[in-house]
Amino acid sequence: MIEKIHKLIEEAEAFSTQSLEELEVFRIKFLGKKGLLNDLFASFKEVPNEQKKDFGQAINKLKSAAQEKVNSLKASLENTTSDASLFGDLSRPGEPFNIGARHPISLVKNQIIDIFSRVGFNVSEGPEVEDDWHNFTALNLPEHHPARDMQDTFFIQTDPDVLLRTHTSSVQVRYMENNQPPIRTISPGRVYRNEAISGRSHCFFHQVEGLYIDKNVSFADLKQTLQYFTTELFGKSKIRLRPSYFPFTEPSAEVDVYWGLETETDYKMTKGTGWLEIMGCGMVDPNVLENCGIDSKEYSGFAFGMGIDRIALLLHQISDIRLLSENNMRFLEQFKSAL
Ligand code: DAH
Repeated sequence: MIEKIHKLIEEAEAFSTQSLEELEVFRIKFLGKKGLLNDLFASFKEVPNEQKKDFGQAINKLKSAAQEKVNSLKASLENTTSDASLFGDLSRPGEPFNIGARHPISLVKNQIIDIFSRVGFNVSEGPEVEDDWHNFTALNLPEHHPARDMQDTFFIQTDPDVLLRTHTSSVQVRYMENNQPPIRTISPGRVYRNEAISGRSHCFFHQVEGLYIDKNVSFADLKQTLQYFTTELFGKSKIRLRPSYFPFTEPSAEVDVYWGLETETDYKMTKGTGWLEIMGCGMVDPNVLENCGIDSKEYSGFAFGMGIDRIALLLHQISDIRLLSENNMRFLEQFKSAL
């Protein structure tokens, strides 16, 4: 009998498992109500007196071996599978989740895209490294044309054919080369000009180009589109169109929106006039349509190009354009609450 108990002690000590269910089977077998230990305790009275001492010690040893095994395995199994070990302390307060902020340029760009997509414009893009044809020649700016001086160009190495685009008008050309009218597209992107950097201008900035080509498109359509746009973006509908010149449009105009003079930034950005020059525009020159494979007798259209940076400065009351490209966290984090 005592021998049998020693065997059970060995069995209990050697027991091992990875599963809580198997451990429970083990516990019931040894320690359960109808388990081995209870049976052994029950048979205690039948044990001859002279063996009682050894027998008693043996079953107590078996009991503590089984109990210890259950306790230690349970603790280690629960430690590896419990929620606490998988997820940490679930009652702890959450870590603050640091959401990023959109850049003010992206905020304004998205607003502009949104406004034009509501009246049927899609979004198109082109490369920042351009060739002469798409940036100049196709836009009615042949080599040696004096209007090329309007935009100081960065060339790539010494090849005069490869350059950083000076305006997003190059995307107009690409779009017309690949799509037939009706065309309604806007093209946002970064552009580069060899200009001195100051609080109001930079050697790279952002534009959105617009192009609308169809049958019977008139200057009145252009003006109405601009009126809609400025009202939506600025909440201000007072605009003026000043006659201007661009080689790729005829007639051409520059558009000013009356912003007002309430803050110092307003003074700075409007040069004290309250009027903000927001874009150039005009009716697409027939030469440009023909250069891009569109029949200028059948189709006409308007185009416009606007700078995003200055608009962003005004809308967000930022006093210096350089802040937009300095990646200063204290500046950028201020736009967290914007959409
Ligand atoms: N590309 C011109 C610029 O960079 C802006 C512009 C003027 C674009 C008239 C146009 C336009 O599409 O029709 O200053």
